[in-house]
Amino acid sequence: MTLSVADIKPNIASEVAASKAELLSGVHSEALRELLEHRGVLVFPQIGFSDDEQVEFTRTLGTFAPERTGEQVYSVTLDTNINELADYLLGSLYWHIDGTMNDVPIRASLLSSKVVCPDGSGDTEFANTYAAYDALDGADKQALESLRVMHAAWNTLFYYEPEPSFTTLRTMMAIGDRELPLVWNHRSGRKSLVLGCTARHVVDMDFRRSVELLVRLRDWATRPEFVYRHTWSVGDLVIWDNTGTMHRATPYDPASGRLLHRTKVEGEEAFH
Ligand code: SIN
Repeated sequence: MTLSVADIKPNIASEVAASKAELLSGVHSEALRELLEHRGVLVFPQIGFSDDEQVEFTRTLGTFAPERTGEQVYSVTLDTNINELADYLLGSLYWHIDGTMNDVPIRASLLSSKVVCPDGSGDTEFANTYAAYDALDGADKQALESLRVMHAAWNTLFYYEPEPSFTTLRTMMAIGDRELPLVWNHRSGRKSLVLGCTARHVVDMDFRRSVELLVRLRDWATRPEFVYRHTWSVGDLVIWDNTGTMHRATPYDPASGRLLHRTKVEGEEAFH
């Protein structure tokens, strides 16, 4: 059985047409995994998975990764009436890779839309960090190859709360810090950039130059040719390869009701 696939942009995102039954049977698992790695983002318009179906489909793509709390499905919302820890998601409005604080970041995330913002806000953007690396010039590639970057969840705090209390800062700092390569040399031989709002500073580099470099590279990696912006309809499912993309939500009113359900595929490769 062949998959019906239409590329959305040359460097990122494809739309996949397949029935629920085919997707849940796992008959396309290998093809979808390969497509995901090469296209970064796969869109299944209005497939309308229930939570159980989303969990079942996630399992066809790899090892299912539950939340730290043990939940299978996570409610992505900024509304603290729905998710009391919703404030942690304020960082999701800035470019990031999930799991930069873990040894092995998750392989992929699946988001399905349950409620959209009535005013049409709350899109999700994705940037292909493989394509961004590939398009760098040779001198840049050489200069970046051996650089290491300190990542910290607490760094994201300053994006949305520039003057945090000491208590809030210490709570975020307790999550830890992690040194990661700037260029991820994947097992496949491909390379991607490891950037995002958890990136604090380039190790052993003057702080000003380090900030300059990280901002220049984020600017580069999020140029329109590397980015896909998804405007949600209820029932859409979007999967992204978390090892070769960054993503962010575009601003929306926390009281809008916007609700996405997320499941995850366990990581398979450490940052290297
Ligand atoms: C996320 O960063 O996982 C959530 C993205 C979104 O809310 O659009």
